[in-house]
Amino acid sequence: MKPERLDKVLAAQSTWSRKDVKELIRKGQVTVNGLLARQADQKIHWDRDQVEVGGKPLILRRHLYLMMNKPAGVVSAARDENCPTVVDLVPPELRRQGLFPAGRLDKDTTGLVIITDDGELAHRILAPKSHVPKVYLARLDSFLTTEMAEGFSKGIPLGEDGTTLPAELVALDLDLAQVTLREGMYHQIKRMFAFYGAKVMELQRVSMGALALDKNLAPGQCRELSPLEAELLQERQTPDGASFFGLW
Ligand code: URA
Repeated sequence: MKPERLDKVLAAQSTWSRKDVKELIRKGQVTVNGLLARQADQKIHWDRDQVEVGGKPLILRRHLYLMMNKPAGVVSAARDENCPTVVDLVPPELRRQGLFPAGRLDKDTTGLVIITDDGELAHRILAPKSHVPKVYLARLDSFLTTEMAEGFSKGIPLGEDGTTLPAELVALDLDLAQVTLREGMYHQIKRMFAFYGAKVMELQRVSMGALALDKNLAPGQCRELSPLEAELLQERQTPDGASFFGLW
């Protein structure tokens, strides 16, 4: 990989502007491989050099891919005037410009959200034709019925949005369903159950494609995807080698 200017790399992969970076360098806050950086135009290999700012190591990556366990009460957006967003919850050491959630969950829905600054990846996940299977757990105010499972498998008419693609409903308990969707209409699961007069009391997304929500993430926490997970997103492969993005 070609070496790049220190100020350019840091500004692209953090929340600092290039001017901020120059000021940090001037103040002696930046080291590269343990040596004080003196010039903003010093060239670095961001993929192998160790850069620290104020004694804290920086995670340098062209793009960042985070998995968050979204809590209820925050919105799936980069910014919002009235509510905290998933991006607001990203800890300072993982923050950088251009982060946004790849896909939306309702404010009261919890669970797996991918946050990235890679627009191309997000486009692939979000494209209407991508059909990425997304698995949810839905707790209802009433009992599940075989009629619901049959209806979900055929498709549910949702007014102007048309009929949903076939979805899978597996009963995990009398009032707890595992639902797999291959599309993402507005309030889709709530509206599908509402078709049968049932109300969704709790909704959690537990997986997207081959990526499962890390059970060790408490609500509001996030972590970087492991190299394998990030590769799965990039290379469209499941761990056993079968293409899954191709099925989306
Ligand atoms: N379906 C819903 O109703 N809400 C979500 O957040 C996701 C799927």
